[in-house]
Amino acid sequence: MRHLITPMDLSVEETMNILDLAERISIGPQLYKHVADGRQLATLFYEPSTRTRLSFESAMLSLGGQTLGFSSAAQSSASKGETVADTARVVSCYADIIAMRHPKEGAPLQASIYSRIPIINAGDGGHAHPTQTLIDMMTIRQRKGKLNNLTIGFCGDLKFGRTVHSLVSSLTRFSDNKFYFISPEELRIPDYLRDDVLNPSNSTYEEVSSLEDTLPKLDVLYMTRVQKERFFNEEEYLRLKDVYILDEEKLKLADKDMPVLHPLPRVDEISLDVDDDPRAAYFDQVQNGKYIRMALIMALLGITDPVTGRTVLD
Ligand code: CP
Repeated sequence: MRHLITPMDLSVEETMNILDLAERISIGPQLYKHVADGRQLATLFYEPSTRTRLSFESAMLSLGGQTLGFSSAAQSSASKGETVADTARVVSCYADIIAMRHPKEGAPLQASIYSRIPIINAGDGGHAHPTQTLIDMMTIRQRKGKLNNLTIGFCGDLKFGRTVHSLVSSLTRFSDNKFYFISPEELRIPDYLRDDVLNPSNSTYEEVSSLEDTLPKLDVLYMTRVQKERFFNEEEYLRLKDVYILDEEKLKLADKDMPVLHPLPRVDEISLDVDDDPRAAYFDQVQNGKYIRMALIMALLGITDPVTGRTVLD
């Protein structure tokens, strides 16, 4: 049995196989509409979500399976003090696979120790968001045709932005990528990303503060929201939340083929006038989210791809 807690739980080959399966699903989703007949997905969301929870549910329904779950801790027995470990044991009796979001870093890992069914981390605190990483990689590959030899700028809240941490970790395994981390001093990448991921992989990176100066150098721009819910101090949040706002005027500084990604939700960091720019890729990411989660459910449940006759993971 396999779980997905961080993107590094998948080898590069397995990652590419999941991206390829998601592409096949996007071309012919009707070929997959009964592959999970009789299987059940539990969505255990202790923290708010629109895209991740609904796309997981839509994915399972589109594969012929069913869903159950809760969308806030208050709706579950966590509100009475039940532990994540006990909840994982209990839900293992009801479903075939679990997608879990939790505000505490490490909660899905803890669940995986006690679960009898695969656990997918749907975002844990400021730590990781591996399914978003697969979506981001699918979108970058669609736009740039590759995942290596790219100069990628990450802008905004790089301290708490778990999608950034996960995507950077995964992209360090592809050759010749260069990273620009664009943030205020207070929202720099966490030490562990520098010390345990970037430096050991000999990655090339720079930490900078000017979006305008960096834009002309980029092949890909990844914008992020300043994560209000992770701040202890409201004043600090208000001071930092609008430091970077991407608009059409600033985009004139960028390459005409530089896709703009954002995991969403956005607040003010991408102005609405960017939505009509062909470089805006964030709604492609939303659509890819459903295909990636269909592919991932198939992979972790060991479901054979009717097109290739093979499963994705050994
Ligand atoms: N990108 C993402 O995780 O969105 P939600 O918080 O709406 O799930």
